[in-house]
Amino acid sequence: MGLSYRPVDWNRQKRIYDLTLLLVLVLSLSVFTGVSLWFSPNTTAETLIIRGCSISGFLLLHVILCIGPLARLDSRWLPLLYNRRHLGVTMFGLAGIHGVFSTIQFHALGNENPLVSLWTAYQRDYRIHAGGGWNLAQFPFEPFGVVALLILGVLAVTSHDFWLRNLGAAFWKTLHLGGYAAYGLLVVHVGLGALQDERSPVYVVLLGLGFCTVTGVHLAAAWKEARMDRLEVAARNDGFVDAGSTSAIPEGRARVVVISGQRIAVWRHHDRFHATSNVCRHQGGPVGEGCIVDGCITCPWHGWNYRPEDGCSPPPFNERLATYAVRVFDGHVWVATSPPPHGEFVAHPKEGLPVS
Ligand code: HEM
Ligand code: FES
Repeated sequence: MGLSYRPVDWNRQKRIYDLTLLLVLVLSLSVFTGVSLWFSPNTTAETLIIRGCSISGFLLLHVILCIGPLARLDSRWLPLLYNRRHLGVTMFGLAGIHGVFSTIQFHALGNENPLVSLWTAYQRDYRIHAGGGWNLAQFPFEPFGVVALLILGVLAVTSHDFWLRNLGAAFWKTLHLGGYAAYGLLVVHVGLGALQDERSPVYVVLLGLGFCTVTGVHLAAAWKEARMDRLEVAARNDGFVDAGSTSAIPEGRARVVVISGQRIAVWRHHDRFHATSNVCRHQGGPVGEGCIVDGCITCPWHGWNYRPEDGCSPPPFNERLATYAVRVFDGHVWVATSPPPHGEFVAHPKEGLPVS
């Protein structure tokens, strides 16, 4: 939510996050190198780099894709989500090293320009119809990796909030769904490439397990959210709906309800009640799963702040969550059903009323 461009807004949490990432990477690459040399002492440094970077990058992509749904299923995963973009950029770095070294190793020794050879080598060197039938071991798997790398490059470059602000949250989010396209291409790249030479079924099982994990956590999170949306509270005639007992909302926290198809977070702050949209203006995070810190609602994903009274970010920022009128009656909080008149950005001027 910065006003000017800064490459990274460092804070203590980000430093710890990145340091942990670095340690895990160094550890996994060292273990990979040790195990590879133990079983095949003649493995060259180039092969170690190509394989070490590809496997750790591909694993990291699984983690990146799973963090979002995992955080929706269980808030204990939230710390991982906080700086997910650094995971993405690191993953692109690893994939880039793998791509460059593979291109040099497998395409730079002929007469053809390596960048052309990546696409054309298969037409001359391999035949898809080897012996008249389909032979997957001869399939041109590298172009899938090249396209995936290009997509991941676009995502890494546009991961900064600068691009989020300039492209708009909706377009940026759609663009970043490209991560799933890249993942699909990489499953083909690995399945029809490296796995064709492997005799052990362990690798096929691992690839399948990764795919099932990514799809499984997404389906589970979608199911949980659909179930929550079905619990839509019934509207009352006077335009307010009962959002539950006041005692069900702890101080500084919110209860999320669905009213007229909108997810609304109903907050308790110093024994006053406020209702805001549950959708963070940054990347659509569930603000209602956050808490109020120093008088401001703090989004659990990356810490953007909003005042509970009017949904506005404190100065100098100018983001704003939609707010809804609130009444407290008979120990229950009632929230206005009508959405703000001019869409999400318009705050309702009324404050919550004191508990009756
Ligand atoms: C310019 C783009 C790319 C090229 C030319 C390329 C090339 C290759 C080649 C030649 C192999 C077989 C290596 C071997 O058998 O020793 C391979 C395997 C593999 N690639 Fe890629 N790749 C590219 C992009 C990617 C990307 C973006 C990823 C994502 C992390 C990726 C992940 C993998 C994995 C996991 C394997 C199997 C493990 C291995 O053998 O290294 N590749 N790639
Ligand atoms: S989604 Fe990033 S701070 Fe809310």
